[in-house]
Amino acid sequence: MRIGVVKEIKPAELRVALTPAGTEELVDAGHTVLVERSAGEGSGFPDGAYVNAGAVIVDEADRVWQDVEVLVKVKEPVGAELGRLREGLVLFTYLHLAAAPELTRALVKAGTTGVGYETVEGSSGHLPLLAPMSEIAGRLAGQVVAHYLTAPVGGRGVLAGGAPGVAPARVLVLGGGVVGIYAARVARGLGADVTVLERSDDRLRYLDDRFEGSVHCLMSDAHSVLEQLSLSDAVIGAVLVPGAVAPRLVTRAMLSSMRPRAVIVDVAIDQGGCFETSRPTTHEAPTYVVDDVLHYCVANMPGAVPVTSTRALTNATLPYLLRLAGMGLDALCEKDPGFAMGVNVRDHCLVHPAVAAAYAGEGGGK
Ligand SMILES: NC(=O)c1ccc[n+]([C@@H]2O[C@H](COP(=O)([O-])OP(=O)(O)OC[C@H]3O[C@@H](n4cnc5c(N)ncnc54)[C@H](O)[C@@H]3O)[C@@H](O)[C@H]2O)c1
Repeated sequence: MRIGVVKEIKPAELRVALTPAGTEELVDAGHTVLVERSAGEGSGFPDGAYVNAGAVIVDEADRVWQDVEVLVKVKEPVGAELGRLREGLVLFTYLHLAAAPELTRALVKAGTTGVGYETVEGSSGHLPLLAPMSEIAGRLAGQVVAHYLTAPVGGRGVLAGGAPGVAPARVLVLGGGVVGIYAARVARGLGADVTVLERSDDRLRYLDDRFEGSVHCLMSDAHSVLEQLSLSDAVIGAVLVPGAVAPRLVTRAMLSSMRPRAVIVDVAIDQGGCFETSRPTTHEAPTYVVDDVLHYCVANMPGAVPVTSTRALTNATLPYLLRLAGMGLDALCEKDPGFAMGVNVRDHCLVHPAVAAAYAGEGGGK
């Protein structure tokens, strides 16, 4: 099979979808790998490393998009990439379609098969291709909160770990999944007083056991959210209902209960965000202020650490890519129903149930 890798064009996105080691495995299995020139540079992989692994280096992104059966990416297509979508192409990347109407319409119209990393399911219902980036985004969220709580960058001027005789920052984490657990762990490690609100009973039991009392783990409901908001210096949004738009847990009116110059880090922004006032930002301009609350809503947080993120992402995606290239989409979907859950768009239709539901008003997912 012919597999393509392009340079990411989303602002400040330096990750790449395939490492030279992954390229070598695909080439050894008899596949042809086309890599756009300098695609791996931001992650520490020069073109020569791909050539040594057996890839063909291509100068124009257009040619890669046109010449392959499977295009593997990191982020969703943006800008000029929307015009490169076409029938017969399988696009394997993060898509987050519930929060991306323009891209969704473009994929459906073009007839491209869109397989979203974020909805591929493992055997126990977990999300194996979302998890590595959530592990990184969660850790980053803990660091980001500590940074933006400082006064020179607009925060309240609170040190995460406090000082002898002075209370530490209070950090609230909404959602105790993969992002939530790592965000809580890092914030706790910096000395903050951390509370996680989670709505799943089973998950709360797991968190309680894992943190052994070092983090407060409480049931998430409208009352607990409002109460905790008013007590917190920083809030991290980390909720997810797979495939669907993120539940809006915090309205604009609720911001008035927050402390002045408190910090919101909405990691769930890629699914639309869990604060009414969230809108996607970039690493180049990551923050803005609404009602005296600092908002950080970068939709590709792991892009800030591409050397780490590229390796973590491709460790998870490569086994799927090898099987996809080896047996083709239909056979893989039949053999692995969890992989089939990754198929969001096919034959001009939205086929993932939660994504289709998000667009039900637009004609039953077509
Ligand atoms: N911005 C970024 O760069 C970036 C990077 C990675 C992941 N993400 C996003 O972060 C979000 C979280 O991802 P994850 O891997 O942790 O998901 P996850 O499925 O592991 O965890 C989500 C948790 O939210 C909980 N939840 C759902 N509704 C809730 C509610 N109303 N109140 C409290 N908890 C609720 C779920 O029970 C679950 O435990 C996703 O939207 C993901 O796409 C963003």
